[in-house]
Amino acid sequence: MRIHSTIAGLRAALDDGGRVALVPTMGNLHAGHIALMTQARGQADTVVATLFVNRLQFRPGEDFESYPRTFADDCEKLADAYVDHLFAPTEAEMYPRPQGYHVEPPAEQAGILDGEFRPGHFRGVATVVMKLFQIVQPDVALFGKKDYQQLMIIRNMVREFNLAVEVGAGETVRASDGLALSSRNGYLGEAERAEAPRLFRTLTKVVEAIHAGNRDFSGLESEAMSDLARHGWVPDYVAVREKNDLQSPTAHDSGLVVLAAARLGRTRLIDNLEV
Ligand code: PAJ
Repeated sequence: MRIHSTIAGLRAALDDGGRVALVPTMGNLHAGHIALMTQARGQADTVVATLFVNRLQFRPGEDFESYPRTFADDCEKLADAYVDHLFAPTEAEMYPRPQGYHVEPPAEQAGILDGEFRPGHFRGVATVVMKLFQIVQPDVALFGKKDYQQLMIIRNMVREFNLAVEVGAGETVRASDGLALSSRNGYLGEAERAEAPRLFRTLTKVVEAIHAGNRDFSGLESEAMSDLARHGWVPDYVAVREKNDLQSPTAHDSGLVVLAAARLGRTRLIDNLEV
């Protein structure tokens, strides 16, 4: 695997790379990231991973400074997954001057759910992903369903800007007890780690109730939030939404997804489950 810290170096190396797949990450890689690398490997001649902790998508007071940085381990995992190129730019390479132009996703997509609790987050994500698309110029880019709203926003950005990139999705990879793998799981203390799978179990219960014919979505949402709160969580939301646009379900919904975000101690976890 070749490691590049400059845009010029990466671009030169990608000349004649055939079909290129991109997997953007912020590092501290786990099996969820690696599953995306493997998926990319099966779809392209050249696989490019990127590792960049993007300051633009963190709010003041969030964990930008303390976000886990494990570069040597990450390189080893990527090489083992047959990734061809790692682009790991410095902040000065990505933002040589303060970013003045931004990609502003519409409020009905970026101001709801996680966007309601992290204002500006998806603007930061869309902006850096747009930059990474321009830098790498991939034929296909892969994102995880773990970040369901992020995936939807990127798909819509690609469509509305007519970007020449296919967007592929990877299923959420979980620990054996159901907890969705996340770099932020490392913040959990031992007791919190034992409690954390409740988020997935709560989503599972909501999905089972819907399968059993329950259409009282707001009842299911508030029951799920109270259940989490009773066990010491501070839930931001549990929401039953349409899969394609994450709006509230209509009578003729096209398929549903249940999404949740909740804090356990100082760790904010998100998860979702398609119905
Ligand atoms: P990061 O959180 O590092 O995630 C990188 C990619 O891995 C994302 O597409 C995310 O959805 C996916 N992912 C994370 N956990 C996963 C899991 N348990 N199973 C499957 N996929 C998983 O998401 C970001 O970085 C950033 O916002 C980024 C897109 C890189 C822009 O900065």
